Amino acid sequence: MAIKNNGGVRLSDTRSERRHKIASNMSFAASEAYKLLRTNLMFSFSESGKCRIIGMTSSFRGEGKSLTSVNLAYTLAETQKKVLLIEGDMRLPTLSQRLRLNASPGLSNLLAGISTIEESIQQFVVETDDDADIIVDVLVSGDVPPNPSELLGSEHASGLLNLLRNNYDYIIFDLPPVTAVTDALVVSKMVDGMVVVVRNNHAVRGALAETIRQLKLVDAHILGFVFNGATESGSGYYKGKYYKGNYYKK
Ligand SMILES: Nc1ncnc2c1ncn2[C@@H]1O[C@H](COP(=O)(O)OP(=O)(O)OP(=O)(O)O)[C@@H](O)[C@H]1O
Ligand SMILES: [Mg+2]
Repeated sequence: MAIKNNGGVRLSDTRSERRHKIASNMSFAASEAYKLLRTNLMFSFSESGKCRIIGMTSSFRGEGKSLTSVNLAYTLAETQKKVLLIEGDMRLPTLSQRLRLNASPGLSNLLAGISTIEESIQQFVVETDDDADIIVDVLVSGDVPPNPSELLGSEHASGLLNLLRNNYDYIIFDLPPVTAVTDALVVSKMVDGMVVVVRNNHAVRGALAETIRQLKLVDAHILGFVFNGATESGSGYYKGKYYKGNYYKK
């Protein structure tokens, strides 16, 4: 089978077994919100032509980090950008199941030195009406390791990110929540900026304040916030820098 190279890490024939096609069912409103998020992110960095690594976190679990990460990665790839989505949540991985990809090898295997980049990167492909498939490279979290924080904070991890930088325009790093574990804080030092997802009727003011405090303590560059789950009518939330989430389903 012929493989379309999206210009990311070099593809081998085996990659064809590790890509999964899904159909986009994003609503118009959600799609517009993600485009606004994309534009805001693109303008958040002064220097162009350089790969940007964006960490996604939140205060609590279930605020929509993974959902936002997938949709953001897809929306960036729509503009012909080369995008890699990394699942940095090694404790409760979800991406392989959601995107129908292999659960391993992934980031943990790569960081432990038991798989190569080539073996570990998969793709999800979204079919569009005009036959121009949108392709996002994905590095799922891999086998659950006993020491996620250690692996994520290792020199190997920063070396890997620097290597991957050469192949992508954007790397979206889906991380665990700040109040649960230190992983996001550890990784925040290696990325260009952090986006904090705040879910409507889920987030708690005190916890969000604590999340911001913790990120500032480690000198993380907070790029902004994604307000997930806003209602489209009445509340007035659905404008400006607030974004509503959606998800791609098969
Ligand atoms: N705006 C939304 N509308 C509908 N469902 C949503 C929305 N945001 C999130 N969800 C759903 O809520 C659940 C949690 O979302 P998601 O997995 O993206 O959160 P998360 O922050 O990555 O969670 P975790 O911290 O456990 O990794 C998922 O089932 C997702 O589909
Ligand atoms: Mg998640």
